[in-house]
Amino acid sequence: MTDTGKPLRVLALCLGNICRSPVAEALLRRELEAAGVAAVVSSAGTGDWHVGRPADPRSREVAARHGLSLDGRARQLSAADFYEQDVILAMDTSNLADARRLSPPNAEARVQLMRDFDPLAPGADVPDPYYGGQDGFEEMYRLLERSARHFAVSVTGQSVGNS
Ligand code: 4NP
Repeated sequence: MTDTGKPLRVLALCLGNICRSPVAEALLRRELEAAGVAAVVSSAGTGDWHVGRPADPRSREVAARHGLSLDGRARQLSAADFYEQDVILAMDTSNLADARRLSPPNAEARVQLMRDFDPLAPGADVPDPYYGGQDGFEEMYRLLERSARHFAVSVTGQSVGNS
C-alpha cells in the first residue's frame, strides 16, 4: 500500500521481457503478498524483439520448479509506464540507463536496480542468462528471490509512493 492508500505498482524491467523480468514479476508478487503489501506487479522489456511471446521455456522451467507459473506475454516498456508505475526495478545497469533515457518529463515512477535490494551484492546486475545454460537460470532465480524478499521488507519498513 502506498501513502495514498492505493496498491503499490511495481514493474520489473529487463531487455527482452522473456527471461529475467517475468521471473522477477512472479517473485515480487509472491513476496509482496507474503509481506501483506497490496501491490499490482507487472513486467516489461526495453526491447521489442519478443513482444507477444511467452516467457523463455528455461525461465518457465525454473519458476515451475519453485512453484511459480509464468503466464504473461512479453511487452515493451512505454512512456505511460513512467506515470502508471510507482517503482520500476531494472535488472541491470544497461536496462536502468535505457529506462532513464526513455523517462518522460514529470515521470512519477522511481527507477532503480532490482539488486539495490540484494543485501549480498547491493547494486549488482542480474546477469542476463539468455545465452547460457539452465544453471544460469537457477542462479538468476536465487538472486531474484533474495532481492524480491528484501524489496518487500523495505516496502513494509518505509512508505513507498508518489509523495
Ligand atoms: P531478458 O533476456 O532481458 O532477461 O528477457 C534476454 C532475452 C532476449 C534477448 C536478450 C536478453 N535477445 O537478445 O533476444
